[in-house]
Amino acid sequence: MKMRNPQLNENGELQHLLTIEGLPREVLTHILDTASSFVGVTEREVKKVPLLRGKSVFNLFFENSTRTRTTFEIAAKRLSADVINLNINTSSTNKGETLLDTVDNLTAMHADMFVVRHAQSGAAHLIAQHVPKHVHVINAGDGRHAHPTQGLLDAYTIRHYKKDFTALSVAIVGDVLHSRVARSLIHALTTLGTPDLRVIGPQTLLPTGVEKLGVRVFHDMNAGLRDVDVVVMLRLQNERMRGPLLPSAQEYFKYYGLTPEKLALAKPDAIVMHPGPMNRGVEIDSAVADGEQAVILPQVTFGIAVRMAVMSILAGN
Ligand code: CP
Repeated sequence: MKMRNPQLNENGELQHLLTIEGLPREVLTHILDTASSFVGVTEREVKKVPLLRGKSVFNLFFENSTRTRTTFEIAAKRLSADVINLNINTSSTNKGETLLDTVDNLTAMHADMFVVRHAQSGAAHLIAQHVPKHVHVINAGDGRHAHPTQGLLDAYTIRHYKKDFTALSVAIVGDVLHSRVARSLIHALTTLGTPDLRVIGPQTLLPTGVEKLGVRVFHDMNAGLRDVDVVVMLRLQNERMRGPLLPSAQEYFKYYGLTPEKLALAKPDAIVMHPGPMNRGVEIDSAVADGEQAVILPQVTFGIAVRMAVMSILAGN
């Protein structure tokens, strides 16, 4: 018997967004198409629609964030939701309250949706299994496991600039081992039909058996970047590393930092993406980060429409 995807309800509709892995192409395309309709809203003088009026969205960020937390808040407000940002540092989690007790108490305050970032992989899944049926959970990044709305906004950005996933070469460069962003983007792009997906990095920063996800492995930037349409740079996620995996940041930059010279190996109209936060001079040269091929800030802007799409779809199911 085939197991039902725990993110989908009995009608095959999205109930929670926990990971892109296993989601059908139609679900991803529906989210991207819905986001397209919200891009227009975000460019209007009056940027609000009433789709989440009367609903309460709780942002639970147990890990630092600039882009994800803020764009979720903007997205929820543009959908007319009431938004509550729990300040974890001053909350009762510091007095020993468990994650699920915190969630129960917020549910008792009539939460309709939780947006959860946590250092532990599986935290959002745990909450999704626990909450009542009418409450929706969105994973805003759990450990090194998944960051589905980042994967979706990256896919949205690629579709915006390159139109068709089915003729693209995409290279993801750097610390794939610790990257929830890379995993989510790989699942999104393979599901959406990208034929040539590459990961580039030193052996120590690529997961064992990563080829099984449908990617080609390169350890040499000069080979891996050749003729690609999209370059996605990743930060070294030192906070998740156990022990030194690299000789030094300077040496890393020499071999894996994206400079104008290395970018010239890609197609002339290649775009450069980065989920942020960037470490200039470590994985990316400022000349590239601020250059004409970079679409790093548009990624952030598209993130609002993509998060509006996810929240409105969940609220409708
Ligand atoms: N891309 C991303 O998740 O950025 P933040 O950590 O700032 O949210």
